[in-house]
Amino acid sequence: MKLSRLFIVASISSIRFAHNVLASPPSNSTWDYIIVGAGAAGIPLADGLSESGKSVLLLERGFASSHRWGGQLRPSWLDGSNLTRFDVPGLYGYIWTNNTENSGILCSDYEATAGCVLGGGTAVNAGLWWKPPHDDWDLVFPPGWHSADMAPYVEKAFRRIPWTDTPSTDGKRYFQNAATKVTNVLTTAGYTALSANDHPNAKSSVVSNSEYLFLHGERGGIMATYLVSAAERKNFQLQMNTTVARLVRKGDTVTGVEVEASGVGGYSGTIAVTPNTGRVILSAGVFGTAKILFRSGIGPKDQLEIVKASPEGPNMIDEKDWIDLPVGYNLDDNPNAFLVALDPTIEAYDYIGAYNTPIAADAAEYLANRSGPLAQVEGPINPIFWDTVTGGDNITREVQWSVNSGALSNTTAIAFTASLGRGKTARGRLTITPNLTINVSTLPYFNDPGAHDATAFTAAIAKVLPLLQQLPNATLYQPAPGVSAADFVKSLTIDISMSASHWVGSTKMGPGGAGGEGWVVDTETRVRGVRGLHVVDAGIVNGVPTSNPQSVFVVVAQRAAVEILKLG
Ligand SMILES: Cc1cc2nc3c(=O)[nH]c(=O)nc-3n(C[C@H](O)[C@H](O)[C@H](O)COP(=O)(O)OP(=O)(O)OC[C@H]3O[C@@H](n4cnc5c(N)ncnc54)[C@H](O)[C@@H]3O)c2cc1C
Ligand SMILES: *[C@@H]1O[C@H](CO)[C@@H](O)[C@H](O)[C@H]1NC(C)=O
Ligand SMILES: *[C@@H]1O[C@H](CO)[C@@H](O)[C@H](O)[C@H]1NC(C)=O
Ligand SMILES: *[C@@H]1O[C@H](CO)[C@@H](O)[C@H](O)[C@H]1NC(C)=O
Ligand SMILES: *[C@@H]1O[C@H](CO)[C@@H](O)[C@H](O)[C@H]1NC(C)=O
Ligand SMILES: *[C@@H]1O[C@H](CO)[C@@H](O)[C@H](O)[C@H]1NC(C)=O
Ligand SMILES: *[C@@H]1O[C@H](CO)[C@@H](O)[C@H](O)[C@H]1NC(C)=O
Ligand SMILES: *[C@@H]1O[C@H](CO)[C@@H](O)[C@H](O)[C@H]1NC(C)=O
Ligand SMILES: *[C@@H]1O[C@H](CO)[C@@H](O)[C@H](O)[C@H]1NC(C)=O
Ligand SMILES: *[C@@H]1O[C@H](CO)[C@@H](O)[C@H](O)[C@H]1NC(C)=O
Ligand SMILES: *[C@@H]1O[C@H](CO)[C@@H](O)[C@H](O)[C@H]1NC(C)=O
Repeated sequence: MKLSRLFIVASISSIRFAHNVLASPPSNSTWDYIIVGAGAAGIPLADGLSESGKSVLLLERGFASSHRWGGQLRPSWLDGSNLTRFDVPGLYGYIWTNNTENSGILCSDYEATAGCVLGGGTAVNAGLWWKPPHDDWDLVFPPGWHSADMAPYVEKAFRRIPWTDTPSTDGKRYFQNAATKVTNVLTTAGYTALSANDHPNAKSSVVSNSEYLFLHGERGGIMATYLVSAAERKNFQLQMNTTVARLVRKGDTVTGVEVEASGVGGYSGTIAVTPNTGRVILSAGVFGTAKILFRSGIGPKDQLEIVKASPEGPNMIDEKDWIDLPVGYNLDDNPNAFLVALDPTIEAYDYIGAYNTPIAADAAEYLANRSGPLAQVEGPINPIFWDTVTGGDNITREVQWSVNSGALSNTTAIAFTASLGRGKTARGRLTITPNLTINVSTLPYFNDPGAHDATAFTAAIAKVLPLLQQLPNATLYQPAPGVSAADFVKSLTIDISMSASHWVGSTKMGPGGAGGEGWVVDTETRVRGVRGLHVVDAGIVNGVPTSNPQSVFVVVAQRAAVEILKLG
């Protein structure tokens, strides 16, 4: 159906930023800072560093996602608007289909799911945006990065990117009949209903509306805020469709990057930092940063030998300059498990069908007013709740429960997803394969000595399982009625499909703090034993936070900008 003639054509606002995008070949000058990767961390970092007046080049392997930055990828019903699929919350879920429209968006060279377009994970994620509880700093980061130190950066991140629990601009939440019954059952069982972002430290037996960074009915986030202010500065340049293959280094000093065009208008060649003072900062995400480090001769010897034996081996830095660091170890992520009840009376919405054939009135309302079902992720939006549990080892663990209803392949399903979070102790490892893809060779799920993670997870599920059976009109489907929480947890298949796509920890920050050994960057984010090189992304965070993690990375990046500028 051709709908576009019905719609008001919104004004195009991308032009005014165009002057600093692809202004001149990035190799024509040297750069005070080259940031690799325009994701949750790279974009706020670029804004913070460029505020100083020093020159900043932001390199991104992927293409433009949001229309604001020249993005074009969209279904025809968005033609004539200033939106792409990435800008519309209601089109989030389409990323989980295997349709050809998704090609090139998720990184094809990692086993795990990650975004490889401008914005990184933030271009494709569900937009959940949580203020971290104090323990996410105090129990995870080294001294100096604790909650009191981070408070001003948290405040700034939430000032620049506000949260909302009513993403539709008319202030309504659509399709709430499942949400209402879930909240009723939880509060009857003793959960306290509150706004999680008004009470960030309350994470035990609490239920909140889902809270998002969507802004005026659009995705918003870092591409609509930090990247806008960075791009207004003459000393900042963004170069998309350009993949950093490896670092250029002279012994232990990084002097630039070697890049390859990975799309139209991309750049190939060598780009240098300002001699003696310039710095390269890797913000390419857990998998992207590790891959660059391995290809640059930085990491465990077994990984560097795999690169050496690959077709690009002859281009690799000489073995005498290899730097042995535990890159790839200490990998963490939340394992998910799904409890499901079936209820034929819940409202459903076909958000996958909405990609190519939206309900005409919903599309019209969204385009005219940024309101209605398409302003929400996945049609019905539901509460989120948390429990604090113990695993018999004196470490408390957080379990976040998210609820999906009427938006899955089975439209009668209410799914409760348990996600084991902060405090979990299992860790994994990422490695490089002979064809230079990044593999999760050890999963960070339920491999801890003493199985305390499983004990804690079981305790959380044992508490919630009976509540599914109290949902009016619903029948328990998974686990089958009569199966205990303990047997259900034992029956889980431990594989990468458990992933919450919240990977962290593979280049962890030290010294000190939880974990102690095995650190890769110091508290100024400098890579140990290398000059002129930093890592600022999810990899430096030593363990998953309590909730969906993107806010932690935005906050960390703002703080890192201050530390890096102090180094001169
Ligand atoms: C489908 C999905 C849903 C999610 N939902 C949520 C949610 O609702 N809320 C939440 O808080 N978190 C969510 N997350 C997690 C969150 O988006 C990520 O944890 C976060 O984006 C990681 O930030 P980062 O800066 O480390 O890396 P990324 O955001 O992944 O950014 C890395 C960037 O580097 C680029 N890059 C990589 N290699 C190179 C190279 N060699 N050269 C140049 N550029 C390179 C990539 O293209 C990418 O743009 C979700 C993640 C996914 C995948
Ligand atoms: C970049 O440098 C090349 C070679 O020095 C020069 O020919 C070209 O004009 C420069 N381009 C810009 C946009 O500065
Ligand atoms: C990047 O390359 C893609 C094709 O790979 C192209 O569609 C796009 O216009 C290019 N530029 C940007 C800024 O996305
Ligand atoms: C689209 O236009 C509206 C109205 O001018 C503006 O508020 C919004 O930020 C724009 N969105 C994008 C993605 O450019
Ligand atoms: C895409 O998904 C459909 C439906 O699940 C499946 O039948 C098909 O094999 C998938 N195709 C690919 C290329 O994975
Ligand atoms: C947009 O909102 C206005 C004001 O509420 C309303 O009159 C109009 O019908 C809406 N447009 C669409 C297409 O829903
Ligand atoms: C837990 O802490 C208590 C008090 O400090 C101690 O007695 C006990 O041995 C600890 N248990 C474990 C499993 O570490
Ligand atoms: C959902 O799944 C259940 C259990 O397999 C099945 O009985 C029901 O018919 C399904 N409903 C739909 C709409 O697919
Ligand atoms: C790389 O190797 C892995 C494992 O052998 C394989 O699954 C994958 O398809 C390969 N990728 C490419 C691009 O060849
Ligand atoms: C990738 O990791 C999986 C385990 O997650 C392992 O089974 C597989 O052999 C690995 N592949 C390669 C090419 O290393
Ligand atoms: C239960 O189902 C009945 C019959 O379809 C419906 O009228 C009622 O509203 C439902 N109650 C709840 C709480 O979902």
